[in-house]
Amino acid sequence: MTKIQPASNPQDFREFPMTKSNFGLIKQLAYEYAGIKLTGHKQEMVYGRLSRRIRSLKLGDFDQYCELIIDRNNPEVSNFINAISTNLTAFFRELHHFEYLEQWFCKDVLKSYIGDMSSVRIWSAGCSSGEEPYSIAMTIDRALRLRTGNFDIKILATDLDSKVLAKATQGIYETDCLTNLDDQLLHGNFDTEKTDEGGVSVKDKIRRYVHFKRLNLLEEWPMQGKFDAIFCRNVVIYFDVPTKRKLFDRYANILKPNGYLFIGHSESLHGITDRFKSKGKTIYQLSTDGM
Ligand SMILES: C[S@@+](CC[C@H](N)C(=O)[O-])C[C@H]1O[C@@H](n2cnc3c(N)ncnc32)[C@H](O)[C@@H]1O
Repeated sequence: MTKIQPASNPQDFREFPMTKSNFGLIKQLAYEYAGIKLTGHKQEMVYGRLSRRIRSLKLGDFDQYCELIIDRNNPEVSNFINAISTNLTAFFRELHHFEYLEQWFCKDVLKSYIGDMSSVRIWSAGCSSGEEPYSIAMTIDRALRLRTGNFDIKILATDLDSKVLAKATQGIYETDCLTNLDDQLLHGNFDTEKTDEGGVSVKDKIRRYVHFKRLNLLEEWPMQGKFDAIFCRNVVIYFDVPTKRKLFDRYANILKPNGYLFIGHSESLHGITDRFKSKGKTIYQLSTDGM
């Protein structure tokens, strides 16, 4: 009986073989288009996600796929970026940031309110499917509960991935995603009657604060005014040091004096920028000599 010889490379058995040069080009384009640094150990994840694209486009192999995405104007490029970016998020993820935000808002915005229009601008940069900007809106809405006054509050929420942004704009979440919320937060901020899709919907009083836009952080920013706070959490993990340096420098330039920057739990500004001073775990404030 003839034995089947194992392939010298186990990847040869795959539905769509991915050559070294395919992966090399994918890495290069991920970096060029989105600043995402794909290391060798991400190869399996990339293979799985892009195979799905190849199948749905009815292509034969990775060579054909690479031919499409090498052209930056090809519509597939946005699906490519969506497929390689990681969108994990949650409501009130890293709760201490929202506690800090509420304290700041009550102390610096509400206490100093003297009757004129008070405007507050917050940016959720890399907002994924919307849990982060809606958590910011819920925090501020709660702080405003007992106050009357002329407050103009806007939360800009941006992401590179158009798919997650569509979900964010829809504002409908499975109840499994809401386990972090106590009864008051849940009933106060969601229409808890289930929608046709089987989820619950963020109330209009929260949605009205948040404006979603597609934006690649590495490209031009169209915003004109400055921000009181920027949340850029769990976004720069794949960026290399020069990209991070440039990005955090741009954040410093677009913050108001004493503005705040919130970063992800495993991130740090050490060796990246000295334009911020630390205000506690992963919370920074623009330093006056850094302006
Ligand atoms: C892991 S999620 C973090 C979501 C949220 N900030 C949080 O901490 O829960 C990272 C998000 O950053 C986005 N992202 C990655 N690179 C980006 C870029 N160059 N420009 C804009 N968004 C980017 C991804 O699409 C993804 O939705």
